[in-house]
Amino acid sequence: MANKKVGSVMVIGGGIAGIQASLDLADSGYKVYLLEESPAIGGVMAQLDKTFPTNDCAMCVMSPKLVECGRHLNIEIITNAELKKVTGNAGNFKVEVTKHPRYVDEDKCTGCAACTQHCPVTVALYPIEKTLIYLKPEDKVKVDVILNELRDKKGNLMPILQAINTEYKYLPERILKYISQELDVALTKIYQIATFYNAFHLEPRGKHIITVCIGTACHVQGAPGLIEALEDELGIKVGETTKNMEFTLETARCFGCCGLAPVITVNEDVHGKLKRADIPGIVKHYKSMEEKQDAKIDH
Ligand code: FES
Repeated sequence: MANKKVGSVMVIGGGIAGIQASLDLADSGYKVYLLEESPAIGGVMAQLDKTFPTNDCAMCVMSPKLVECGRHLNIEIITNAELKKVTGNAGNFKVEVTKHPRYVDEDKCTGCAACTQHCPVTVALYPIEKTLIYLKPEDKVKVDVILNELRDKKGNLMPILQAINTEYKYLPERILKYISQELDVALTKIYQIATFYNAFHLEPRGKHIITVCIGTACHVQGAPGLIEALEDELGIKVGETTKNMEFTLETARCFGCCGLAPVITVNEDVHGKLKRADIPGIVKHYKSMEEKQDAKIDH
């Protein structure tokens, strides 16, 4: 009976290609074993924002397939597992798979993550500071004001990080350690939040944040030219900050005012319908604001 063909297949890799192949095979009537080495299917596409060439949201494309794959009666998803050995012939292979432990009861787990709140084990993603963290007096005053206002509120971590991010325009490492110490919250938990949201920054940023919209309308109306002009004017590339910490240049997608395309924002100010030639004047305006402020301080 060694030549008897079997009606099941194994798909290796649970990225978008593996998911689609599994769905097609399962719809054709095959029993499909979808093998994935990471804890979840989705692969790299699940980590993308937009996809080429249509600029569609990656998760909007993927989510229905993930759900369908998870619910399909002909598909068995085997995650956290790797293929060890394949023997046999076409139509009748035998595979050996190593399944790594997940440490949760998969039949009961709903993915709510509540268990992470009660887990007695702390895994340090970042080195744990054994000594007490002290801040410079001026920083301590600012941070303590924020902590005193928010520490007793439910779900305080997010608003505290927002307030620090607003105050410093980024989240200084030492202050995060201080918050961890003062609130008795694991530093790893703070970094989980700080690294998840795009609004938080872990590197110092300039006094003026220039953001160029690279949404479709702005792109078509000349955003790439504005970026070039800004890079020339400031002597930095997108994502960088000038040495004097005056300007940071960033990009973002669609500010919701496409009628003004192409648009940039400088801090809270919106500048629309721009041409390359407008850029030097705008940069000069914010530079002179700095100079005026410095002059006031000197008096
Ligand atoms: S595409 Fe730039 S504001 Fe909408």
